[in-house]
Amino acid sequence: MVNYKDLGLVNTREMFKRAVAGGYAIPAFNFNTMEQMQAIVMAAVETKSPVIMQVSKGARNYANGTILRNLAKGAVEYAKELGCEHPEIVLHLDHGDSFELCKECIDNGFSSVMIDGSSLPYEENVALAKKVVEYAHQFDVTVEAELGVLAGVEDEVSSAESHYTKPEEVIDFSTRTGCDSLAISIGTSHGAHKFTPEQCTLVNGVLVPPPLAFDILHEIEKKLPGFPIVLHGSSSVPMEEVNTINKYGGHLEAAIGIPEEQLREASKSAVCKINIDSDSRLAMTAAIRKHLAEHPGDFDPRQYLKPARENMKKMYIHKIVNVLGSDGKLAQC
Ligand code: G3H
Ligand code: 13P
Ligand code: ZN
Repeated sequence: MVNYKDLGLVNTREMFKRAVAGGYAIPAFNFNTMEQMQAIVMAAVETKSPVIMQVSKGARNYANGTILRNLAKGAVEYAKELGCEHPEIVLHLDHGDSFELCKECIDNGFSSVMIDGSSLPYEENVALAKKVVEYAHQFDVTVEAELGVLAGVEDEVSSAESHYTKPEEVIDFSTRTGCDSLAISIGTSHGAHKFTPEQCTLVNGVLVPPPLAFDILHEIEKKLPGFPIVLHGSSSVPMEEVNTINKYGGHLEAAIGIPEEQLREASKSAVCKINIDSDSRLAMTAAIRKHLAEHPGDFDPRQYLKPARENMKKMYIHKIVNVLGSDGKLAQC
């Protein structure tokens, strides 16, 4: 058994309380590689922001759970080395799909887990989330559960259609499960193709997607005052990264994300955790494609992973400072 507290990690409880009260959101960045971890830590230290480093089932399959946990341990030490005496870093399981997977992560140094029973019938989702919460809370590990279904297709997370969260269910769900935060569905979705061009409106040559369902979010806030809400699928899919990828040999068509203005607005509400993965993938791929196209003789991975890491760090800092507003929000510097 490895307890996260021995690794210098923290759970989400206190940081969410402060984020809801302060009207900002904590960034939850997915990571699969050392370069992503380094970029996340550099960005969090430079901006003095708490941060959630999250690992999907696909990430564990790719990189190995033990290695990722040790990267998170290294992240705490690295943050201190960079001059942050009291970093607030959460190691979170993203989209856990079974009690066994959540238990394995809790037993192996994770400080927070998500149990995603959102595709199950309501009562089964309640029962599964409750079981995970009962186990996790014995070790002071916090639990995110989900109500409502997000559309989108990735390695391990996929659904063709989205179903908005029903506000009339949230009190019953959070009370009976005892979950610490709730992921909701209000129009975000996973991946870099969140909307079809037909769903968007053309404004000054730019495709603008339909707005998020803020009415549902506000109804949920009224039913659960101060309760931490989570938004998945919140990449903005920056056009400059998509254009760079396409300019240097890529082929990404109709990539459309969530406008940052809407995420800025959501961050001011009870939304206190915003999940971003695709934007990191785009920043990394754009920098690597550009570097290799401009330096065809390079073959040392450090030559192209360094600009990739820099580009991700720039993106993370931008999200923290200009979108989520979590800069300067460490309890102690
Ligand atoms: O929500 C899913 C995350 O973006 C992780 O994606 O399962 O492809 O690692 P993945
Ligand atoms: P994006 O695909 O929009 O980055 O969403 C990531 C996510 O929700 C991870 O759980
Ligand atoms: Zn997600």
